[in-house]
Amino acid sequence: MRHLLLFLALVGFAVGQGSRFRQEFPGPYCAARADRCCRDRQDGCAQPISTTLCYCDEFCERGEHGDCCPDYEEVCMGIAPEPENATSCVYKNRYFTPYDQALVDNCNTCKCNMDGSVTCTEDVCLADDDLLRQLHHLERSIGWKATNYSEWWGHKYDEGKVLRLGTFQPRFRVKAMKRLSNKGGHLPTRFDASEHWTGLVAEARDQGWCGSSWAFSTATMASDRFAILSKGREMVQLAPQQMLACVRRQQGCSGGHLDTAWQYLRRTGVVNEECYPYIAAQNVCKISNDDTLITANCELPVKVNRTLMYKMGPAFSLNNETDIMAEIKDRGTVQAIMRVYRDFFSYRSGIYRHSAAATPAEERSAYHSVRLIGWGEERVGYDVVKYWIAINSWGQWWGENGRFRILRGSNECDIESYVLASNPYVHEHVQAIRKVGELQELIVGTGYVPHPSRRYPPYAHRG
Ligand SMILES: *[C@@H]1O[C@H](CO)[C@@H](O)[C@H](O)[C@H]1NC(C)=O
Ligand SMILES: *[C@@H]1O[C@H](CO)[C@@H](O)[C@H](O)[C@H]1NC(C)=O
Ligand SMILES: *[C@@H]1O[C@H](CO)[C@@H](O)[C@H](O)[C@H]1NC(C)=O
Ligand SMILES: *[C@@H]1O[C@H](CO)[C@@H](O)[C@H](O)[C@H]1NC(C)=O
Repeated sequence: MRHLLLFLALVGFAVGQGSRFRQEFPGPYCAARADRCCRDRQDGCAQPISTTLCYCDEFCERGEHGDCCPDYEEVCMGIAPEPENATSCVYKNRYFTPYDQALVDNCNTCKCNMDGSVTCTEDVCLADDDLLRQLHHLERSIGWKATNYSEWWGHKYDEGKVLRLGTFQPRFRVKAMKRLSNKGGHLPTRFDASEHWTGLVAEARDQGWCGSSWAFSTATMASDRFAILSKGREMVQLAPQQMLACVRRQQGCSGGHLDTAWQYLRRTGVVNEECYPYIAAQNVCKISNDDTLITANCELPVKVNRTLMYKMGPAFSLNNETDIMAEIKDRGTVQAIMRVYRDFFSYRSGIYRHSAAATPAEERSAYHSVRLIGWGEERVGYDVVKYWIAINSWGQWWGENGRFRILRGSNECDIESYVLASNPYVHEHVQAIRKVGELQELIVGTGYVPHPSRRYPPYAHRG
């Protein structure tokens, strides 16, 4: 004989009490059964509940003597559970109940509790109304404009710091890299490498939600220098994806060190973007150290007879304003590490400097790397404000078409502390020249002194 009313709670499952009952016994019961609901009376069509059984057959519906499972009405009869209007919550003028989905408020979610109170997660968002309001008020004093980028909305600041940046704080080794001092010379008041070498400086790409700025700034600066120092013969976009996938002892989309990245470019070299397209995620490395463009199945460049991967000479550091300027003017773009604060994400235009806006003490900054491509100055009232022109890797929708300007000469955000450059092995350019004399001049001209074992092969006999 089938037990009826085995425990009091089941009595509570009368019409109108359904939702309270369901809340105490959320299940699933009928929904968890393979054949779900049964016709007529089938005593095996049951599920354990608390210390007894509840049923999913038609026989269970017997008014106050019923012994249906709490989700019987919903699963077997298709009746949506009726939310109890006694508990509804209000948050920022929106009403919702404990049965509704949590409300999304920028990067936080809020849920309605049974007692009518609201609980929200309390993460700092990448951008929020409060920050934007403050930046708007400060606009005149800080000298740059902010905007509300929809790309940032809904993301936590912690997410932005990891996935939109991705360069680790420099280690001793980078800081101690050989320093190169440029011998003065005349430096103009403004210089933009992309105007000086038209078409040879890459514009901003978008690293996506992957902390790969270490690979992006390295690969892009190397590409710029291949184009510039080969005088346009080797216009190539080098593949950050290869570095993301292949450089060991880095953390892929969680960030990397620049010295390790440069070591890889020097020892192994990279292929072009088309051969290893960027996917904003770490994938399996498909290039081995002794690959060539041919063995790696890359399409060979048409302007030069190159079969080797693109390699760079050792990186060196520059860390004073005039040295950095002379390096950019003589040999092209450089790479700079910078400290990023939350307000930087909302930069739209102007000369950036870090503001105190909406930056609680616990909001730590993180490191990023970008390219410096030139400099200039702007008169603001009686003052002359000096700036660097930099290219970021957040796409051209951000900032001044993917670029930003930042205060120069005061080490704003550490931008002048860790500036790196390196020179490419422009093999084919050299090959095009038949005389040893010119070859030597070119090697000297690129600023790169080859290691004895890496001397260029003697091309003289070809002429
Ligand atoms: C619940 O809502 C119904 C109509 O939707 C209303 O008639 C009833 O008074 C409400 N009950 C409570 C306790 O607010
Ligand atoms: C910023 O944009 C989001 C949606 O993308 C919007 O909800 C928010 O109100 C905007 N804030 C400001 C200050 O414009
Ligand atoms: C940078 O360093 C060079 C020597 O390395 C020096 O001649 C020059 O004055 C320095 N510039 C600044 C702005 O300190
Ligand atoms: C290109 O280089 C390869 C090897 O470096 C050589 O065998 C080949 O003859 C060269 N081709 C031309 C057209 O110079």
